[in-house]
Amino acid sequence: MKKCFLRGLWVMLLIAMQLFSVADGAETFEQKAERMQWWTEARFGMFIHWGLYAMAARHEWVKNHERMSNEQYQKYFDLWNPDLYNPSEWARAAKNAGMKYFVVTSKHHEGFCLWDSKYTDYKATNTPWGKDLLKPMVDAFRAEGLKVGFYYSLIDWHHPDFTIDRMHPLRDNQAERAKNKDRDMNKYAEYVYQQVQELMTEFGAIDCLFLDFSYPGTDGKGHKDWQSERLVKRIRELQPNIIINDRADLLNTDYGWDFSTPEQFMPRAWVTVNDKNVPWETCQTFSGSWGYHRDEESWKSPRQLVSMLIETVSKGGNLLLNVGPTARGTFDERACSRLASMGEWMKYHSRSIYGCTAAPQEFQVPQNCFLTYNPQLNRLYIHIMELPFQALHLDGYQGKVKYAQLLNDASEIHFERQASHAGGGSKNENTITLRLPVKQPNVIVPVVELFLQ
Ligand code: GLC
Repeated sequence: MKKCFLRGLWVMLLIAMQLFSVADGAETFEQKAERMQWWTEARFGMFIHWGLYAMAARHEWVKNHERMSNEQYQKYFDLWNPDLYNPSEWARAAKNAGMKYFVVTSKHHEGFCLWDSKYTDYKATNTPWGKDLLKPMVDAFRAEGLKVGFYYSLIDWHHPDFTIDRMHPLRDNQAERAKNKDRDMNKYAEYVYQQVQELMTEFGAIDCLFLDFSYPGTDGKGHKDWQSERLVKRIRELQPNIIINDRADLLNTDYGWDFSTPEQFMPRAWVTVNDKNVPWETCQTFSGSWGYHRDEESWKSPRQLVSMLIETVSKGGNLLLNVGPTARGTFDERACSRLASMGEWMKYHSRSIYGCTAAPQEFQVPQNCFLTYNPQLNRLYIHIMELPFQALHLDGYQGKVKYAQLLNDASEIHFERQASHAGGGSKNENTITLRLPVKQPNVIVPVVELFLQ
């Protein structure tokens, strides 16, 4: 009995210490690494952008691009009825693609809420659909074993207290701008606070949060407008293990963000902040728009997408790949087929992705390849983007490799010291040469797994 009591006390003390240290910004490097461990190992997640803009089907910024008023945008709300919505299908598609977590737009810039928020009428439950869309999604993804993340837009082009600024759909409407004096950003910040509290308390454990976004400066908005300090501290109190992105304009604090978010571009190397490598996640689209875009033609090929995942992990990052479901509640065929192709590759190659990171510097990257490394297994993965004819020379690898195999079928790859077929290339004592098959295995990108000494 006494033992039990003491153990209880100890657990409470530990929780209190954790709460205190995180809220206080006093978390150590090791504590942060531990909190982020699942995420660092996962490497691959699904972003979902879903809202009224799916009906316009021409970009989630359509309200802004076309400078629409709330009245003009209202038709989408009045007709919103995603009759084919089946989040279990979405969750299965994500899982089969090899994704380990998902992040969904609970509210995007348009202000429409997928959940039954107490603080607004502008929500799914008040549309013809009439039901909460978020709760079933969370349940479905959890049931497939994926971690849960919410995107929440700090920007809100529908809320009456959100002042019109340079980013607003009504930015050029002087009459509307003149009414800014009647809008109260303090009230809006309170709305954000209450809504985020709802998201942090009514859906169980939330694993990550993507706040979007700040644009401080003239006619913009930043941490003062969102009252980010108070907001993020509250989030960490409610969900001490949560992982938060870097867009609340709190980059100068240590508690205000956990990872960097390069968007729609491939960083050249591991992302740094103040010259230090930081955890990072690049969010990418299949075709440019985040929301469903019917007529977009710039869809990336499965090979480009797999390459993107590999390159991201080779630089120590995560890939959050976006799907914009249609207004009927489905993933369209272009998204489904690409997810399936990625899943086919991941089925045989996820070992070079999960738990992997950039290779130690001592391993030179061979031509046309990307390296990833699993520190736990002490294995190096050579992703061969362009299969060379038979010989792949690995300079400086002599003495470091125990065994080599193709990852897709675990078939042995012989290797020998020096470049025996280098043909004129300078001989190097420290080079080993892998003897690859002439014919590329039937996979998008072949991978050689090296068991290191
Ligand atoms: C940008 C866009 C937005 C998208 C987001 C994803 O901030 O405003 O539409 O949701 O990036 O990272």
